[in-house]
Amino acid sequence: MNQNQLDTLFLNGILVDSSIKDAEVQDFEDLLTKLKERKISFLDSGVLNALYDGEQSNSDCYVEVIKNYEGETSSGKPADWVAYFNDRFNRLRDLLLLKDNSGITSISNIKSMPQGADIKTIAMLSNISISPIKKYTVFDMEDNTGSYRGILTSQNSDLLADQVVLIKGRKFKDAVFIKDIVYPDIQVRDSKPKDIEDSYVLFLSDIHVGSKLFVKDAAELFMKWINQEVSEYSSIAKLVKFIVISGDLVDGIGVYPNQEKELEIKDLREQYEAFYKLFDRIPKNIKLLISQGNHDATHIAEPQPKLDPNFASPVYKLVNAVFLSNPYQVNLVVGSSKTNLLSYHGFSIPYYADTISKYNKMDPQDIEEIMKLHLKSRHLAPTHGSSQVVPLKRDYLVIDETPDIYATGHIHKALVSKYKETILINSSCWQYQTSYQKKYGMNPDIAKVPIVNLRDKSYMMLDFLGEKVQAVKP
Ligand SMILES: [Fe+2]
Ligand SMILES: [Fe+2]
Repeated sequence: MNQNQLDTLFLNGILVDSSIKDAEVQDFEDLLTKLKERKISFLDSGVLNALYDGEQSNSDCYVEVIKNYEGETSSGKPADWVAYFNDRFNRLRDLLLLKDNSGITSISNIKSMPQGADIKTIAMLSNISISPIKKYTVFDMEDNTGSYRGILTSQNSDLLADQVVLIKGRKFKDAVFIKDIVYPDIQVRDSKPKDIEDSYVLFLSDIHVGSKLFVKDAAELFMKWINQEVSEYSSIAKLVKFIVISGDLVDGIGVYPNQEKELEIKDLREQYEAFYKLFDRIPKNIKLLISQGNHDATHIAEPQPKLDPNFASPVYKLVNAVFLSNPYQVNLVVGSSKTNLLSYHGFSIPYYADTISKYNKMDPQDIEEIMKLHLKSRHLAPTHGSSQVVPLKRDYLVIDETPDIYATGHIHKALVSKYKETILINSSCWQYQTSYQKKYGMNPDIAKVPIVNLRDKSYMMLDFLGEKVQAVKP
């Protein structure tokens, strides 16, 4: 890039990383237009790669971004929270209206309706409790016109505070007795095999580079496997097109009490340098989708913007990486086929394990049920407080589109399953049990890699913890 071009970027309020100075840009005006359109104010090699990733004519595999948080900010004032909740409510209500839009009444109208009237309304739920004697589920239903009491004559652990649902019932005294609850829920995706060759996507997360407990031997075996240097399952390694890395790339600094005793690398930049050196060994024809978790160099409130280049600059040297927010939604494109992927680090999952007693063992089946709750609610953290959030005008945790694959991490458990036609994945970890996990009785699944074939959505899991690569039951 020449001095004139660098000056033009600067005059347009775009800061430039040193990694970009030697980059060759074919069409500078086009680049400038793209940067302005996407409100990008910091340009480095990672951003440049991501901008042109969908346009590489020499590759029929690329990433098409559907939803990605670009870092807009909020002042966190009460009005921002109101706008944030209104956006969430309105978008989830619109999804419910697609299922049933006849005879919907607003909450304020219920008051003037006669006793015994049939009621159909869309509401956000709050103050959910179980009545002590009859064990009824009692809650408040709210929309932007008012609030009314709802009573369900059974217990239902799928009802979550701040969830938006369609309610059918009958008015009796000062409450609506519920007959049916409709969740926004996902649709059934097309599951017909695509007209492409076998093409694989791997799911990694929670690498925790920098920890003394990082499983170096397993990572070494994985790198040999992906480079087809070991014979087991090398026919799959050869056909890998994408690797999804859903957060906790490094162990970070000061994330949990006494973490420093378990750190081998005590500098955040050096942790990312070690991550870069490891992942630079992955063949460059494989696209890496990189997003972050609570151990990484961004703020913890969600949505999290892509990795902070000030701390994670080494990772931006990975020329085959696409840097994304947490959460994000993309299409993995192979030739004429598109696979819709939703990735979320999974920070809200432990909240539901803590508050819904039947899930509190947090084994893979519990995590699967919590992931289904996310999809049924069409929200990645339905209850306010289940994760920290930035009150933006748009709630990035609403699941607008039904994904083919919903991938999480954070829990350090391995899981591949299916809900309707959507594949659920939790992608294990690359770190032995920490003192923190020991204290809370959490036993991690280590170095297990869920794999999905984009051709027919079949899946499997490979285990890299032993001497040899082995297939294990998902
Ligand atoms: Fe983690
Ligand atoms: Fe995490």
